[in-house]
Amino acid sequence: MNNLVVKNASQVVTCSGFTGKRGRDMSDLHVIENGTVVITDGVISHVLKEGESLSVNLSDYEVICAEGKALLPGFVDPHTHFVFGGYREEEFAWRMRGDSYMDIMNRGGGIVNTTRATRAASEDELFIAGKQRLDAMMQLGITTVEGKSGYGLDRETELKQLRVMRRLNDEHPLDVVSTFMGAHATPEEWKGREDEFIDFNINEMFPLVAQEKLAECADIFCEKNVFTVEQSRRYLTAAREFGFKLKIHADEIVPFGGAELAAELGCLSADHLLKASDKGIRAMAKAGVVSTLLPLTAFSLRENFARARTMIDNNCMVSLATDFNPGSSFSASVPLLFALACIYMKMSPEEAVTAFTINSAAAVGRADKIGSIDVGKQADLVLLQFPSYKFLPYHVGMNIVEKVIKRGQVLVN
Ligand code: NIG
Ligand code: FE
Repeated sequence: MNNLVVKNASQVVTCSGFTGKRGRDMSDLHVIENGTVVITDGVISHVLKEGESLSVNLSDYEVICAEGKALLPGFVDPHTHFVFGGYREEEFAWRMRGDSYMDIMNRGGGIVNTTRATRAASEDELFIAGKQRLDAMMQLGITTVEGKSGYGLDRETELKQLRVMRRLNDEHPLDVVSTFMGAHATPEEWKGREDEFIDFNINEMFPLVAQEKLAECADIFCEKNVFTVEQSRRYLTAAREFGFKLKIHADEIVPFGGAELAAELGCLSADHLLKASDKGIRAMAKAGVVSTLLPLTAFSLRENFARARTMIDNNCMVSLATDFNPGSSFSASVPLLFALACIYMKMSPEEAVTAFTINSAAAVGRADKIGSIDVGKQADLVLLQFPSYKFLPYHVGMNIVEKVIKRGQVLVN
């Protein structure tokens, strides 16, 4: 019986007012000063303004006094690759020396390097490592996380990664949204036969993944020297036939038309977008594609950040994600994410909070269930040590999460 009252929070940052495809005004968080949130059976049952009386019998509820603290929706991380074997600390050192991410990938490092280690790892090893990573994310206020396969690139290992995520979703308090990313890179055995590898994913992997209900979304790395726009279109169009929601790694390294393709296909989200064109940005806004930006990746790769301002000013629904993975962003640091988004990408604190709550819920197709403090939604909440959400980017690099509440249960204290 997850019954809980979070009483007199200096701010209840509701992030309410989401209106489907068009999103919402990212700069208005719909804050209630000195508000109270009541959770009944793990679901938000009342959101009360100061002075409004509690209509429940308090003896049935645990009460948290939240004076001087801000209450927010739990953070939703809509793009990670958190189930993997091995690490790539050497590659990081090479990049600091000047090698590019793509140079390293082209000489057999990068994704294919992690693929070797992930193939070699047992399901239990991946489960244990994945669980530790989810624990760390939970401490930072993340309550839902999207995770991708794509370090198997063969039948057995792709399924292994997805089964690990399913088990983690069942056994760990965080919710895991699984994405099949069979087209993350071309493994050695398919090199030079990229079109056939796409066929293999469409004809053999999609049916298996769909049949076992192992993933909700499908994703592809659409990039020069990885998969072309035409291959991506073919893969994603087929994925939709199998009922997957569509995601795309787009315009990360060079301008490539990925954002435009996402708009054409009506993808749920297009991610990275460091080099997205003006046309692509306008097209995403028009089509209601969530533009998911990954500042920890740009920072780790020493690249220029995505043009968040242009996207927001053109009415794109912008979301933020950590992209946690062993290569381009070995970090799930929520504090650093907020700092980079506001300091370097020039997002306001309000826009950054919207981007990592309700808009990121939209990026995983769950804006109707999570991402805002509204009656009827799952009670996933974060209580900060400070009275305002503005401390999130301002207290640079510091974890200011005091409590994490998942379906009405206090997980982090
Ligand atoms: O989102 N860009 C492609 N995929 C991942 C990186 C994966 C890796 O380097 O292992 C990303 O950044
Ligand atoms: Fe990624």
